[in-house]
Amino acid sequence: MPQLANRQVLLGITGGIAAYKSAELVRRLRDAGATVRVVMTPAACEFITPLTLQALSGQPVHLDLLDPAAEAAMGHIELARWADLILVAPASADFMARVAAGIADDLLSTLCLAAKAPLLLAPAMNQAMWSNAATQQNRHTLGARGVRFAGPAEGAQACGDTGPGRMLEVPDLVAAACSVFASGPLAGVRVMLTAGPTREAIDPVRYISNSSSGKMGFALAAAAADAGAEVTLIAGPVHLPAPAGVSRIDVLTAAEMHAAVMARIDACDVFIGCAAVADYRPAEVAQQKIKKTGESLEIRLVRNPDIIADVAAHRPRPFTVGFAAETNDLLLHARQKLERKGLDLVIANDVSRSDIGFESDRNEVCIVSATGDGDPLSGTKLAIARALVEDIAQRLRVTRAHPAGAVPT
Ligand code: C5P
Repeated sequence: MPQLANRQVLLGITGGIAAYKSAELVRRLRDAGATVRVVMTPAACEFITPLTLQALSGQPVHLDLLDPAAEAAMGHIELARWADLILVAPASADFMARVAAGIADDLLSTLCLAAKAPLLLAPAMNQAMWSNAATQQNRHTLGARGVRFAGPAEGAQACGDTGPGRMLEVPDLVAAACSVFASGPLAGVRVMLTAGPTREAIDPVRYISNSSSGKMGFALAAAAADAGAEVTLIAGPVHLPAPAGVSRIDVLTAAEMHAAVMARIDACDVFIGCAAVADYRPAEVAQQKIKKTGESLEIRLVRNPDIIADVAAHRPRPFTVGFAAETNDLLLHARQKLERKGLDLVIANDVSRSDIGFESDRNEVCIVSATGDGDPLSGTKLAIARALVEDIAQRLRVTRAHPAGAVPT
């Protein structure tokens, strides 16, 4: 993890049961070469002792804003200047709310207000607290201000609930901290991708889906992370491991994928829609398994939301890249998609060929943009992903240098 070598990381710990993981986090940040100073809120001290963190960090732990002895040793403004990164793990719902409101009534919130260093929050809370509109609004506000988020993950929670709100595991937090200092062509860029199919239930045991393997999207997520981006991957049901350093959110249906994307849209600079989203879903999901009763069965389908079109219509919008998987008139359909959905780029691929596309490890694609079509790119999905990421990074630089449509042709 060379990105953390000689970096000064201020680790904030707020009150939550996930604080027990913060002890291990200090060790792994130090293993990666960082100097770590810990700041704890009073509630954090109810979960883990300052002595533990002092022993593990090898530095005094900072607790109080108004402690004359601590201020004499290293004042809070000095501490704010010292930090190359402020990582708050766990970040409670209350802490997010206070930072969003600009409150500075304890040492950690004051440091967040006073520091110029990047702020990376690793939320950890009960799933209902995370989903609450107040927390979601705070997350949007903070994301729009450039605050970075690592997680939360979904799964079993200490309180017995299951859902979003678990703090990321320590290796993922270290990877997220590294990505802040990454130096690749997408360093400092927040990329969100969708990948894989979606699954639309007909009854409790049957569903409509497609044969997308997710390989292209996962390869793109890996390539973007390697290029230094902070990557969030919203994955449909696929059997692929998350690439290293990528924050993964699993969903099943198009509606869930849409909600997961729109909830994070303000904290994203580039969106890549690689998922093969089901265009339709059954109008009603039978509560019980449908029995064979007649010679035919009719299932009425209704349209699913178009995720990428909603992303492109959002303001401010990220640089938006779509895929066009076509069986005929590839470039024509890709150009139409670019216009109809308001995208920056469309990656066109011919899925009628059996040697490339859905299940294959290889692919052949063509980049279609408003300024013209690129030459075909062919190779393994990872090689293509790397070339696409290079291309996107290059276009992003041009877009940022010439905002509001002033891109030279
Ligand atoms: O409309 P079509 O499915 O051909 O467009 C493909 C592109 O749109 C892909 O980037 C895909 O991820 C995205 N898409 C989406 N939501 C849908 C359908 C497609 O984001 N409901």
